[in-house]
Amino acid sequence: METTIKILHIDSNNPLLRVQLEAAGFENHDDFTSSKEAIEAKIQDYQGIVIRSRFKIDKTFLDKATQLQFIARVGAGLESIDSDYATSKNIKLIAAPEGNRNAVGEHALGMLLSLFNNLNKADRSVREGKWIREGHRGHELDGKTVGIIGYGNMGKSFAKKLRGFDVEVLCYDILEGVGDGNARQVTLAELQEKADVLSLHTPWTPETDKMINTAFIAAFAKPFWLINTARGNSVVTADLAAALADGKILGAGLDVLEYEKSSFEHLFHDTQIPEAFQYLLNAENVLLTPHIAGWTFESHEKLAQTIVDKIKELYFGAPAIVKEAAGVTGIGGVFFKAQNPTALLEWYHKNLGLPTNAYGCTFRWKDEKGQDCSTQWSPFKSDTTYFEPSVQPFMQNFRVANLGRLIETLQEAGVPMVGTPESHEYGKFAWILDPENNKIELWEPIDVVFK
Ligand SMILES: NC(=O)c1ccc[n+]([C@@H]2O[C@H](COP(=O)([O-])OP(=O)(O)OC[C@H]3O[C@@H](n4cnc5c(N)ncnc54)[C@H](O)[C@@H]3O)[C@@H](O)[C@H]2O)c1
Repeated sequence: METTIKILHIDSNNPLLRVQLEAAGFENHDDFTSSKEAIEAKIQDYQGIVIRSRFKIDKTFLDKATQLQFIARVGAGLESIDSDYATSKNIKLIAAPEGNRNAVGEHALGMLLSLFNNLNKADRSVREGKWIREGHRGHELDGKTVGIIGYGNMGKSFAKKLRGFDVEVLCYDILEGVGDGNARQVTLAELQEKADVLSLHTPWTPETDKMINTAFIAAFAKPFWLINTARGNSVVTADLAAALADGKILGAGLDVLEYEKSSFEHLFHDTQIPEAFQYLLNAENVLLTPHIAGWTFESHEKLAQTIVDKIKELYFGAPAIVKEAAGVTGIGGVFFKAQNPTALLEWYHKNLGLPTNAYGCTFRWKDEKGQDCSTQWSPFKSDTTYFEPSVQPFMQNFRVANLGRLIETLQEAGVPMVGTPESHEYGKFAWILDPENNKIELWEPIDVVFK
């Protein structure tokens, strides 16, 4: 980068976000507490802003952000940003649905299975000393039809999780041609005709605002279960409560509520509990979670990594990111079979001065950023099985920048993996075969443990 790009972070995120942006040459400033007005007063100094959900980025804000080049939201949706106005000012919008889609898919499935099997309700009753079996008889997913509205990142992730259950999965979307092997795209009318379960995965837009209302619910041919991990404002809670009361909706799993503040950090705008919400609180067939579908330990890291990758891509272009995704940063080790490894270690120590130990020799060096790195050299016993299925007497180890991403790329390309990836205190490992069946060890190192 010729000029320094200054980025303002207004919410706390996984530390890797700052560390990696810093390493890539961006200047980072944190301000997690100042008011929106105070941030507006200094935003003209920044080219980038990283937000979660602290406040809305509206026209007033954008007019003050005279140098802004991008807004990155460490989350999936962008509705807290006046996207049209930002785009008209040539400001790039970055979101990270890739980072929490798996979490949302798993959460939606968890809610569905919990509702079907009365897990929460039964758990509560056992805790109260009651042992009620018939009253908690469950339903099976097998043979049911699951309808997904909104077949983007989250909808697709949920459909993927349903593979292996014997269910028919239908999707409805305003875009054509989004159906895939996991869900058959249908009209809304067909979905409403056939679905036993409705899972909502649409963004909050004027069209989806209050979309699930009495008329929409009445259009379903059968009573159905509702899962909402999308946005609370897409469901009219009073109409949902009425449909639960009259049995048209059999149960509901709600991770998002109409009453949430737009920052998603608090429930109510005021302290009064609305009547419809009181109904949900008392209903046994309703499962409520506080907007945590995408909120896992894993997504905390994946969201941050996605944002870093996209910001870097914006400034350094695709080749840099492709290179990084490929990820090999150096030789991590050379391993070879030996007739007598112990004698060989002594020979290398005596004649070449290698500081050997029982495992071979660890060479220490610094990369161009001055960080400590290491490379391992090790003779193995000739009958070792470690190089299998390769029949070669050697194995290479490559250091990689981001093993998780590299594995994804390799799997997409159909490169054969050997065994399953492992994590150790000195880094993460995975094994692949090259076209000549040479086994390659891939290592995302934690070099500091060798100090
Ligand atoms: N609960 C959580 O923690 C959590 C986490 C992540 C995302 N979300 C929410 O999940 C929702 C989906 O996110 P995503 O990343 O999959 O979005 P996405 O943009 O990838 O996919 C949304 C899909 O909905 C479709 N769509 C838009 N309007 C529609 C309409 N009126 N009818 C039918 N389809 C319509 C779009 O064409 C698109 O295919 C968003 O509301 C997002 O905010 C919630």
